Amino acid sequence: MKQEKNTKIQVRDLNLYYGDNHALHNISMDIQENKITALIGPSGCGKSTFLRCLNRMNDLITSAKIEGEVIIDDKNIYDKDVDEVAVRKRIGMVFQQPNPFPKSIYENIAYAALKHGIVKKGASCDELVEKSLIQAGLWEEVKHKLSEPGTSLSGGQQQRLCIARTIAVQPDVILMDEPTSALDPISTEKIEALMLELKKQYTIIIVTHNMQQAGRIADMTAFFHMGDLIEYAETETIFINPVEKKTEDYITGRFG
Ligand SMILES: Nc1ncnc2c1ncn2[C@@H]1O[C@H](COP(=O)(O)OP(=O)(O)O)[C@@H](O)[C@H]1O
Ligand SMILES: [Mg+2]
Repeated sequence: MKQEKNTKIQVRDLNLYYGDNHALHNISMDIQENKITALIGPSGCGKSTFLRCLNRMNDLITSAKIEGEVIIDDKNIYDKDVDEVAVRKRIGMVFQQPNPFPKSIYENIAYAALKHGIVKKGASCDELVEKSLIQAGLWEEVKHKLSEPGTSLSGGQQQRLCIARTIAVQPDVILMDEPTSALDPISTEKIEALMLELKKQYTIIIVTHNMQQAGRIADMTAFFHMGDLIEYAETETIFINPVEKKTEDYITGRFG
């Protein structure tokens, strides 16, 4: 299959079943490198399920059965010879509820990087912690208190800590599942600004309930409805000139 130069992820004929519940129907889409792709659609339409397919998080759900391919950099991550732990290192994830480990700010970032052998304890680890916190826009706020618990930070700061932690293991792709829905507007604005900065280096896929948010930050938007990918196009097209009636009904607030 011909691959566009800037395609990072090719999803092909992806089906997912939770037991008898056929939650994703034959999804195919190409996700572009160094762009923000937003997944929108009513609650229960399969956004989170789809996102978890992209880093094999659904492997952890015993009832989930997956068919199809997710090709990242020319390799299907569901091939038998692929190690799912390595996949999750390359494809990082940030969740709705900020979930720092019950450890210090420093250790929250150092832990996985040390475990994956990206750095050794000492100066190189200190450097990585600093660099990750700078990239996540949190350094100035925490540099004087790195040994304090991550959970002592505000919600918005905790979410940036989780982003710093994700960045520290040097992924290619960052998946975010409603990363600001638990945050106040000012923290949300900070995270959105951060995402626009991060897309220069990473490919970002975000699930959002908030259509204004998709409009503000996403280059591409995919509209899901009841397990189907209804429409996928440039964000502007989805919001201003959608092709499908279902998309138009959703974005104009007629359902969802
Ligand atoms: N862990 C799970 N086990 C079984 N069914 C699930 C699980 N997670 C989601 N589902 C089901 O899959 C469908 C899609 O859910 P989900 O991906 O969470 O939607 P969204 O993120 O768009 O709200 C729903 O019918 C939901 O009940
Ligand atoms: Mg969800």
